[in-house]
Amino acid sequence: MSDRKYIAKEEIERQMTLADRLYAEIQPRCLKFYVETFGCQMNVRDSETIKGILARCGYTECAEKETADLILFNTCCVREHAEKRLMGNIGALREQKESNPGLIVGICGCMMQQDGIAKKLLRRFPHVSLVFGPNVVFRLPEMLGAVLSGERIALTDEEDFAIAENLPRIRDNSRSAFVNITFGCNNYCTYCIVPFVRGRERSRSMEDIRKEAESLCASGITEITLLGQNVNSYGNDLEAGSFAELLDKLNFVPGLKRLRFMSSHPKDLTNEVIAAIARNDRVCHHVHLPVQSGSNAILKRMNRKYTREQYLEIIRKLRDAVPDVEFTTDIIVGFPGETEEMFRETLSLVEEVGFAAAFTFAYSPRVGTAAASMHDQIPEDVKKRRLYELNALQAEKTVENNKKYIGYEGEVLIEGCDERTDETMLYGKYRNFKMVYFPGKPEEVNQYRNVRVLSLSRNSLIGERIDG
Ligand code: SAH
Ligand code: SF4
Ligand code: F3S
Repeated sequence: MSDRKYIAKEEIERQMTLADRLYAEIQPRCLKFYVETFGCQMNVRDSETIKGILARCGYTECAEKETADLILFNTCCVREHAEKRLMGNIGALREQKESNPGLIVGICGCMMQQDGIAKKLLRRFPHVSLVFGPNVVFRLPEMLGAVLSGERIALTDEEDFAIAENLPRIRDNSRSAFVNITFGCNNYCTYCIVPFVRGRERSRSMEDIRKEAESLCASGITEITLLGQNVNSYGNDLEAGSFAELLDKLNFVPGLKRLRFMSSHPKDLTNEVIAAIARNDRVCHHVHLPVQSGSNAILKRMNRKYTREQYLEIIRKLRDAVPDVEFTTDIIVGFPGETEEMFRETLSLVEEVGFAAAFTFAYSPRVGTAAASMHDQIPEDVKKRRLYELNALQAEKTVENNKKYIGYEGEVLIEGCDERTDETMLYGKYRNFKMVYFPGKPEEVNQYRNVRVLSLSRNSLIGERIDG
């Protein structure tokens, strides 16, 4: 692996020149693209860049696959079911390709970085002509040029996972934006494929991040979510700069009202980070803090590098420093070797913490990861039953968490509206990520309003505006 950290500016310019040349050919033909995104926010953010580059090449976006001239699936491989779903999706495009031979079907994203899969997909699906990994997105103009002249391309990054700055981008959302702060991951949790497909952890420079945040806010964005597999280790590979310093700096970006971040790895959530969350008024009072398991034996086998007790201590410290902070988490059940007793420890941790929400998963073996070859794999039916039990407990905890919000008042950023009922209901989030519904008008979407919670309806908070 070389230590080249950035893709050279000249290379990015060369790709953009190729894009401009394609524009002259593609735009007059009114060609349309459709991008479907799977997986996490990293992929959502990558899709914005992919769409930006396709637009620069002369394509326009369309809302339905059926009318597209270029269909691209941005894939995830963190769990197995994603692959099965993708194969189904691609197979289903055979007929569309037969009736429109000019159609380009492409597959990109994390799954393409798995050993040999890119070439395998080209062999298995003759109607697919473009396959690439997440770290070569910047070469899309060059790849597209080749595909348009009849080649079939499979390009992944086996080398240096360098950062590409200053690529175009199309956002669906005029209120909130994602900003990458790190790429890749160094943690090698034993169940996880991400370090293998996304490469080593690399931090963007504080300057590049600040400039991007400033330009987003100058264009009307008021909420930014900083993205990294482990945001707390931001800066470990830089000469200067830490996550706490980054929060201090971004807090003063003109126009920014809300600064969010995800995910936080408990092993790196230091007192310094807690203090930075507490002292910066734009930083939101929500921490997504994946615990994965409540059993120390399992945490150790997962290579998570913290104990249940240390995790609970972080929760306590954050609650002391930021009283209305809310936590969400990720949990895996049925990790190899998880006994019934160990699983009960996860339940008791969920009981103790009172997460606002939990994303729960049955362990899914990923080829190449350490856990996949552990001996004591758990039968599927046991995983399913544990998942069911965990979800039932979390559902109770969510209702309990909601109850404490009756009478709560705070500022809500309106994200959307539901017009199916007699009265239009707006929905949006408080600073600490709690969602509330309240009556209003569709044109208020993307605005901020003060809202008081009046009642609960199943899993939701229902409120009224208190600012006239
Ligand atoms: N970097 C983030 C997580 C990225 S993956 C973090 O460390 O918090 C998102 C979630 O998927 C993980 O938190 C984990 O709960 C789940 N996950 C990852 N690999 C998995 C696997 N092999 N089986 C089941 N769930 C998995
Ligand atoms: Fe995967 Fe662990 Fe890295 Fe998260 S921190 S991406 S779970 S290896
Ligand atoms: Fe999936 Fe890649 Fe994210 S594997 S979870 S899309 S980093």
